[in-house]
Amino acid sequence: MAGKTALMTSLAEKLSDIVGAAFAAQGLPVELGAVRVSDRPDLCQFQCNGAMAAAKLAKKNPREVAQGVVEVLKECPPTPSLPPVGGEGNPFQKIEIAGPGFINIDVSDAFIARQLAAMQGDEHAGVAQSGAGQTVVLDYGGPNIAKPMHVGHLRSSIIGDSLRRTMKAAGYKTIGDVHMGDWGTPMGMILSELEILGHDGPVSMEQLAEIYPKASSDCKADEARMEKARAATKGLQDGDETYTRKWRQFIDISIEGMRGNFDALGVHFDEWKGESDAHPFIAAMIEDLKAGGWAVESDGAWVVPVERETDKKEMPPLILLKSDGAVLYGTTDLATIIDRVRTHNPDKIVYVVDQRQSLHFEQVFRAARKGGLVGEDRPELTFAGFGTMNGADGKPFKTRAGGVMKLEDLIAMGVEKARARLEEANLAADMDEAEREEIAHKVALAAIKFADLQNQRQSDYVFDLDRMTSFEGKTGPYLLYQAVRIQSLLRKAGEAFPSPQPSPQGEEVFVIADEDRALALLLAELPDHFELALKNYMPHVLCDYAYRLAQEFSSFYGNCHILSEEDEALRASRLTLCALTHRQLCLVLSVLGIEVPERM
Ligand code: ARG
Repeated sequence: MAGKTALMTSLAEKLSDIVGAAFAAQGLPVELGAVRVSDRPDLCQFQCNGAMAAAKLAKKNPREVAQGVVEVLKECPPTPSLPPVGGEGNPFQKIEIAGPGFINIDVSDAFIARQLAAMQGDEHAGVAQSGAGQTVVLDYGGPNIAKPMHVGHLRSSIIGDSLRRTMKAAGYKTIGDVHMGDWGTPMGMILSELEILGHDGPVSMEQLAEIYPKASSDCKADEARMEKARAATKGLQDGDETYTRKWRQFIDISIEGMRGNFDALGVHFDEWKGESDAHPFIAAMIEDLKAGGWAVESDGAWVVPVERETDKKEMPPLILLKSDGAVLYGTTDLATIIDRVRTHNPDKIVYVVDQRQSLHFEQVFRAARKGGLVGEDRPELTFAGFGTMNGADGKPFKTRAGGVMKLEDLIAMGVEKARARLEEANLAADMDEAEREEIAHKVALAAIKFADLQNQRQSDYVFDLDRMTSFEGKTGPYLLYQAVRIQSLLRKAGEAFPSPQPSPQGEEVFVIADEDRALALLLAELPDHFELALKNYMPHVLCDYAYRLAQEFSSFYGNCHILSEEDEALRASRLTLCALTHRQLCLVLSVLGIEVPERM
């Protein structure tokens, strides 16, 4: 985009530019100069391993190649993209060759200080606005009308909302859509059950909670009963007035209930659409797919073949229309893409859905591209699938009685445990009842969300309330506690040293002593972790970062004087480090959907 300000880059990216240029100066590919944070911090801060690959290309000895690069770097004048560092042009403190040709790098403290100052002065705290000018629709939540939300919906909501927040923090225009299941056979089961019961007026949530399971089990047991449900579904989809009126009523009360649930969970949606909203697009879509020859008839049904020669697994066609003319899940998902493209013209659509639906989405994506519902590569269609939340028995999490755990019960369980944990740790003790409850709620949500998000998205994990609510270890409550602790330190500092204003460029703020360096370097990594989390739709990357940051802060706090530091410049620098740590920690927690209490 023209006129856009340069993206905030991390130290590793800045170094990659510099080292890449040194590779290029040797006639080698720039990419081989990629620098990353060292995985041996005891040896060096950053490393570049490109000399090995470069040596193969240049048919030279890797150490020789590395030597050539290092010589250029030692002379390194600041690159134009990198203004000189307070008088010291060269960003390197140490640069040496190790083993077969690794280039090990330490940067100068001035270089680190500059990076921190830039992040501190940045309104996004250093998060590159890589999504600026782009729109993304995120499809998550996906609860089904009349059925209780199960743990799969919980995961979808937590992960999806976090991805929405992360993308928003990176500058995307984000639209979170709950995409309710409100159009399939369960609707017909309810409508036909209402007929059988002779129930004509509005139904309540409680009635619905009884009607649906009964109808569903009757339908399963009796084909004739099922036929009634199918007919009612078809009637609804064909626009029957009575069905539509009744359906609208129970949809409305269901949504009301869901809103309450999602509010309690702190999960936000911009749109409350459902499968039914795709309906107006279906007839024309099917006509087009038939006319284009993309849809073919198969045993009375209409399908879109989507297999490719390169497929290793069987790839069944997407079923558009059943032989009785009813539409299916794939049909509504295809038509929903049309709706989204027309309404939002998004650059990306991301589906946060149970991994077991990956085949379904592969079919939908292929059919959408093949049938020209979307362009060849825009919008990008991404399936961000997730694994199962299991109980201690390794099977999908259930209540003690073996039923589906309702979201409100799960939260209530979490809050009760959080209350006990607060008491155990003697936290929030001097607060009034209302504040203590509010904190217990925040601790519970932090526990539940962090326990979910910290796992690699595709892995299954075991729901362990005891462990996730602990104030120790890699948990949400531990992170809240650390954030609150820094907050109270900053509050105290504010009282003792009424706000020293950072210098206009913020450049002289940071003084990096030995005790500060590890925290400073870690703070400087933030852009890398955001980028990785965004690239792979992986919130756990940010969970890891938040946890490392909290731990590093703890050592920093234990190792050095902050408020009691006598050197004024160092004290101011350390307080600013604390403030930046707090800002980053709260930012990362907020994109994870976790709210930090004022105190605890
Ligand atoms: N309602 C579906 C379910 O419970 C999830 C919907 C996911 N989103 C979608 N566009 N299909 O499995």
